[in-house]
Amino acid sequence: MAPSPKPTDSTAPPEAGWGLDPFAARIREALAEALGADTATLQLERPRREGLGEFSLPTFRHAKEAGRNPAELAAELAASLTIPEVTAAAAGPFLNFTVEPAALARVVLEQARRRDYGRAAEGRVTLVEFSSPNIAKPMHIGHLRSTVIGAALARLHEWLGHEVVRINHVGDWGSQFGKLVAAWRRWGSEQALEADPIGHLLELYVRYHEEEEGDPTLAEEAKRAFRELESGEEAETRLVWKRFTELSMREFQKVYDRLGVEFDHVRGESWYEDQLEAVIRLLEERGVIEESEGARIVRLDEFGIETPCLVQTAHGTTLYATRDLAAALSRWNEFHFDQALYVVGAEQTLHFRQFRAVLLRCGEVWAERLEHVPFGLIRLAEGKLSTRKGRVLKLEEVLDRAVELAREAVEAKNPDLEDKALAAERVGVGAVVFHDLKHQRVKDVVFDWNEVLSFEGDTGPYLQYTHARCASILRKAGRSAPPAAEVDAALVAEEAHELLVELGRMPQAIREAAREREPMLLARSLLRIAAAGNAWYKDHRVLGAETPALEDARLAVVEALVNGLALGLGLLGVPAPEEM
Ligand code: ARG
Repeated sequence: MAPSPKPTDSTAPPEAGWGLDPFAARIREALAEALGADTATLQLERPRREGLGEFSLPTFRHAKEAGRNPAELAAELAASLTIPEVTAAAAGPFLNFTVEPAALARVVLEQARRRDYGRAAEGRVTLVEFSSPNIAKPMHIGHLRSTVIGAALARLHEWLGHEVVRINHVGDWGSQFGKLVAAWRRWGSEQALEADPIGHLLELYVRYHEEEEGDPTLAEEAKRAFRELESGEEAETRLVWKRFTELSMREFQKVYDRLGVEFDHVRGESWYEDQLEAVIRLLEERGVIEESEGARIVRLDEFGIETPCLVQTAHGTTLYATRDLAAALSRWNEFHFDQALYVVGAEQTLHFRQFRAVLLRCGEVWAERLEHVPFGLIRLAEGKLSTRKGRVLKLEEVLDRAVELAREAVEAKNPDLEDKALAAERVGVGAVVFHDLKHQRVKDVVFDWNEVLSFEGDTGPYLQYTHARCASILRKAGRSAPPAAEVDAALVAEEAHELLVELGRMPQAIREAAREREPMLLARSLLRIAAAGNAWYKDHRVLGAETPALEDARLAVVEALVNGLALGLGLLGVPAPEEM
């Protein structure tokens, strides 16, 4: 969604860099020279307290190397460094840097109104595999995390100029589908399948497991059905399975549409089926495969992994890991990626270590580029949400409930709004997405409805609301602020300092979010921007400011704020409505 101001449309990123980057670069250069150190070793931090400037260098390490006292070194550097538009001050062992507010305001008011603020041209190929639900089962809230985190990482890398390949590795293969076909043949109902495909398939699956033990012929039928699937000999079996797949995908698609998520390739595990034999052959040729109790395994002790990777059962069927080996090989041949991210729950960590190590044992060095991006569980205030044990919390129901609650809030806040249903959808879905992304990825997330949908605090609705409120100022203004060259940035440099600093840090937050696979870093940057923005806005009148020049400058600040929030929310996959 395009933000309402007309940000200066641009052709290329500024040569010196975005936001606060050029100032940081100057500081690092000056320090490198004074200390005789490599710029790469100079990690600038955020000062520990407000009011200490924008950057800070702890001098402990450098003092130690020079055999000096840290506080003395800091004081000496503060006195001797001259950096254009930056002043240095020592605070004990820390060296703090303050960017001249007017210089900072000038840069941010020019850049943060650009539609391409923070874009880069890193020119690498990044594959992101995410979502990957299993067919014939409801997509549960755990898949939400993969979908939302994966989609955000894909967008972030794209913004930084990567060629991104999005893959949905749908779970559509394995012996469980033999069971499902057998159950369908026994108890399936056309009517029930039409009415609620996934619900009915889940029912069949559950019933199979209930009756399997007391009824050995059922297991026989399941094995036969899977053999038929694998060999492709029984066309009818294949058709049944195909139908289950299509019906499931149609259900998943509803969720993807609501989340605004797209894939370049939806390739189920079955897609790699005709490559599985070649994988086993490769493992034989490279001499890494061994027999163990009739099954075939690859030992990984040399990688410090005690559990061998099982690649073929005693019955000759292949496994989840075999299909992942095939998928990795196929993707490498097709895309020659610089990095391949697998956004999958932390409970599968061993699996990812295993098949990566198998490829490395085979001498496929590119497998170094495979990276598991794990994440924690989502817990309801009362416990874990899972499809097992009957406590099914479907993703779609979560979204529906969020939208319902959002509807009430929208109703109360803005009774005159024209399309309340649309606003509620955006607020509800946005709230769920943002809640997921604002947490550190590997941590478990506690899901609490009141917190998710609150309009105050660190929430999606809070950011959306800040954005919409500022967008309405721009609407009321009925004009854009003048181009940067005609705006007197110095007029707002002090009053909007904190906001401008946070906006100036946003490009860095985008880079770090991608590099650390941590969308939270951008989410937090946006929260700081909104907080500073609200604080400034509360005390400063934009339209009808004391002088026309001041109104221009303040309008430019609002444009930067609206544009920054819209861009950031867009990268996270949270809608940024103009009105709500
Ligand atoms: N379908 C699996 C599940 O829902 C996730 C697949 C993860 N990706 C992979 N390449 N193994 O648990």
